[in-house]
Amino acid sequence: MEIQILDKRFVRYIPHGEILAKVEELARRVHADAAGADEIPVFVVVLKGGMIFAADFAKAYPGEMILDYMRVKSYEGTGSTGKVRLLIPPSENLEGRPVYLLEDIVDTGNTLAFLVDELKKHRPAFVKIVTLFYKPEAYKKDLPVDFAGMEIPNKFIVGYGLDYNELGRNLKDVYQLKK
Ligand code: IMP
Ligand code: MG
Repeated sequence: MEIQILDKRFVRYIPHGEILAKVEELARRVHADAAGADEIPVFVVVLKGGMIFAADFAKAYPGEMILDYMRVKSYEGTGSTGKVRLLIPPSENLEGRPVYLLEDIVDTGNTLAFLVDELKKHRPAFVKIVTLFYKPEAYKKDLPVDFAGMEIPNKFIVGYGLDYNELGRNLKDVYQLKK
């Protein structure tokens, strides 16, 4: 199925049910990891894109957790600008706590590196990365991507929280940019 957003056409790529199954699997894997820590883990949701993923992740997470939020801005249109700005810092006390970053997608890794640096200023026990989508061909950093729901090719996607110029976040399925 094809859709149009602004000037671009997208084709359906991953149906909602398949995404949910991956999110649930991810929640179980991360829970198994977090069960080893003494403190209750803090999940820092990266707004806006990580919001939909984080809501399903939190519901599927079979243990105690604390939610917090950060907001950064990096992308304009369908290309990474390379520059990242912090719009909303975390609000919980992260000191000595296990922290998991909940990202919608890891592309070049610029945003991720910025977020991890910011979080480390709060002296957490550790920061681990949980991302729903990961584009390994685009990734340019050495930082390990600890948990990835799905590895996808280096093509622009929208839906399930991900946007094209702020549109398409509310689509249940994920769509891929048509050439
Ligand atoms: P990075 O800094 O290049 O890793 O880009 C990460 C951020 O760019 C993500 O948090 C998304 O907000 C956005 N982004 C990267 N790839 C896509 C995509 O395919 N569709 C929509 N947004 C994307
Ligand atoms: Mg984004």
